[in-house]
Amino acid sequence: MKMSVFGTGYLGATHAACMAELGHEVLGVDVDPAKLAKLEAGEVPFYEPGLEEVLRRNIDAGRLQFTSSYEEAAAFADVHFLGVGTPQKKGEYAADLRYVDAVIDTLAPLLTEPAIIFGKSTVPVGTAERLGARARELAPAGDGVEVAWNPEFLREGFAVQDTIHPDRLVLGVDRDRPGRAESVAREVYAQLLDESIPFLVTDLATAELVKASANAFLATKISFINAISEVCEAAGADVTVLADAIGHDARIGRRFLNAGVGFGGGCLPKDIRAFMARAGELGVDQALTFLREVDNINMRRRTSMVELAREACGSLLGARVAVLGAAFKPDSDDVRDSPALNVAGQIQLQGATVNIYDPKAMDNSRALFPTLTYAGSVREACEEADVILVLTEWAEFRKLQPEDLAAVVRKKVLIDGRNCLDPLVWRSAGWAYRGLGRP
Ligand code: UDX
Repeated sequence: MKMSVFGTGYLGATHAACMAELGHEVLGVDVDPAKLAKLEAGEVPFYEPGLEEVLRRNIDAGRLQFTSSYEEAAAFADVHFLGVGTPQKKGEYAADLRYVDAVIDTLAPLLTEPAIIFGKSTVPVGTAERLGARARELAPAGDGVEVAWNPEFLREGFAVQDTIHPDRLVLGVDRDRPGRAESVAREVYAQLLDESIPFLVTDLATAELVKASANAFLATKISFINAISEVCEAAGADVTVLADAIGHDARIGRRFLNAGVGFGGGCLPKDIRAFMARAGELGVDQALTFLREVDNINMRRRTSMVELAREACGSLLGARVAVLGAAFKPDSDDVRDSPALNVAGQIQLQGATVNIYDPKAMDNSRALFPTLTYAGSVREACEEADVILVLTEWAEFRKLQPEDLAAVVRKKVLIDGRNCLDPLVWRSAGWAYRGLGRP
């Protein structure tokens, strides 16, 4: 099938490359010429394991191309995916829909033939219906243009796997205007459906809410264990063992119960806020006030990490703090709302010298926090350190042994913000080891 994908960020670039991998002919569309030039040259503008190979393979096979021209995209296909960003509005909780709106406002007037637009971006409930009305109004093809919603659940670091082998496919269709969206989606995802991946067809509002509530649930699960971690600290209990124990209950499950510095990234934080804002607009803000507490618990992890670093150093003024990890999670170079970088920034503002190292996120971090000191390796970051903070659980850090660093640090003190190292190993080597929510 021929299709276009609007937006070539984490979501759009992955979707475009993976649709080509499924054998479709795909045109990726973006307004950013620098991004397009990179993608055309077979380079992914961000770090995502495995994506570059998929991108190159499909460019070489002639199935994947890129353009900045909406005219070209409208002429190329009658199936269009919308995968642009929906960031948090400045100074407000609500989502900023300007990029989503701009795609519809620019594309719809070019649709002279019937077409289907599948929205993939995370949007406030009600957006798909509004965009559908707008598209039908602007398009010469009028009612021949359908807007359906097909939310994306991919995780950074597993984006290719999650796109080609998702847990489920969800499609919201306009129940008032039965059209071709479902049958076309079945064709697009035929290979996935052959693998018996669950395919749920809903109305538009339900599909939008599935995405918002999935992310709200995940954020709640993480903040739940982090709240319990605070109680564990006060009571002298171990949250990691507790998580293993409650995780054996199949109704609870062990995944997403890792206590630490909390969640960040381009999705969970802004999505729970947008969800609260939308509930307020719908007059049911009380239903989601608990998400404010989820957000509070999460942000408190960052301040308590700064406090732990201060305790370890006596005073942060003039201290040397090594920070291992800047990305919001391992296998990603994304530093949007990253707990690691946020903690590093706060510590530096309080007068410490912060030496930071991350295997992949150095360039993005430098752009956001140019005043931190960036080291070329773990050892370099830890030179003369009064304390080492592990804030992202990269495999490279999980493998660290006390003797790798004992000779370079000023004091053998390590705070494990992701509970990813073995306390016994470090303590028996003479280090002061501190985990979060552990005795
Ligand atoms: C998330 C959702 O998982 C995904 O389904 C959605 O499409 C987009 O948002 P992502 O932002 O890539 O994906 O990251 P995720 O793996 O969910 O992790 C989010 C944050 O939670 C990270 O900062 C991670 O370190 C943190 N986290 C995760 C924890 O602190 N503890 C855990 O147990 C799990």
